[in-house]
Amino acid sequence: MFEHITPYAGDPIFALVDAFNRDTRPNKVNLSIGIYFDEQERLPVLQCVQEAEKRILAEGGAKPYLPMEGEAACRTQVAQLLLGAQHPALAEGRVATIQTVGSSGGLKVGADFLRTWLPESAVWVSDPTWDNHRSMFEGSGFTVNAYPYYDAATGGLRFEDMLACLKGLPARSIVLLHACCHNPTGVDLTPAQWDALIPVLRERELLPYLDLAYQGFGDGIAEDAHSVRALAASGLTFFVANSFSKSMSVYGERCGALSAVCASKAEADLVMGQLRYTVRRIYSSPAIHAARIVAHVLGDTDLRALWEGELAQMRVRMVQVRQALHAQVCALRPDRDWGFLLSQRGMFSYTGLSAAQVDILREQHAVYLIRSGRLCVAGLTQANVGRVAQALATVA
Ligand code: LMR
Repeated sequence: MFEHITPYAGDPIFALVDAFNRDTRPNKVNLSIGIYFDEQERLPVLQCVQEAEKRILAEGGAKPYLPMEGEAACRTQVAQLLLGAQHPALAEGRVATIQTVGSSGGLKVGADFLRTWLPESAVWVSDPTWDNHRSMFEGSGFTVNAYPYYDAATGGLRFEDMLACLKGLPARSIVLLHACCHNPTGVDLTPAQWDALIPVLRERELLPYLDLAYQGFGDGIAEDAHSVRALAASGLTFFVANSFSKSMSVYGERCGALSAVCASKAEADLVMGQLRYTVRRIYSSPAIHAARIVAHVLGDTDLRALWEGELAQMRVRMVQVRQALHAQVCALRPDRDWGFLLSQRGMFSYTGLSAAQVDILREQHAVYLIRSGRLCVAGLTQANVGRVAQALATVA
């Protein structure tokens, strides 16, 4: 029956996690998957989440099905978090938000929806992008193309080339954009660049589809939502898939959402109906525990304050280890420009190392990066950063 099927080569990110877990070397360092570890190299359980879970338990144990669109309080909190509580689009009922199985679930529901309702459109992703974006949209039946993004020569952004490419796209092309903390490069548009991009998206009648997996890991919760809020203010119709995996350290709970910001309430209602149907056909309805965690943490004043403080601590720690790595590797290899470690933001830096160099890092130094050269800054600690700097200095 299945002898003809193609063997799966494995996922480039998850396969490395398996290899890391099998590695018995005591000094191994995991800078591969996008997971935040603390200074003790542990996956933190945030206090705000622990407290929310106590309250959830105290409320009682019944676990009914959620509606297809997810839990109402969770959806309301998410929309406010993205747009700001007072955004007129919320009062106007122009935002259709569904709770999803992580932001990947949101991306997939959105992809299937768009394939049905914009069947002539193609998808454009940044070059490079998160490894799974292309597979996800191709899996929904789209042709996926890439627009210029990362500048290997400077470690920065090819903004003019990106704009020029987008200016040439057919109307209704779907443009996947990283709202902040670009994965894998750590290279973001500045607020001024977003403001220059938005008129192009409007003139070309393109559909922006934002992936916001790292809100709060760049500059702050509101700052990292600049792109979402600027698009909403411009009146453009767009999608945004967001995640709490990283920002609340609840990876396996699969807490995410998909929002469609539409031109009118009537349009948002239509979109909501079809999103619900799309969910029903894929996984029926999302996870109740995820909804309750998000609703409690975002909706309760003291838990919200606790979360914002814990999120800020994670953000500051990532900046500190970035700085430490930069200082140490510069001291060892002053002949090379390591400035990208400081200019790139969020969880990732793009080292420019080749796959062969990354293999040497892993095989000879037990330092794990993605083979594209992506380094997850959140796996660095003050204790391991010296070893990582030494390894980088040796292979670069
Ligand atoms: C990553 O990019 O490493 C994370 O977003 C985890 C994943 O699912 O790939």
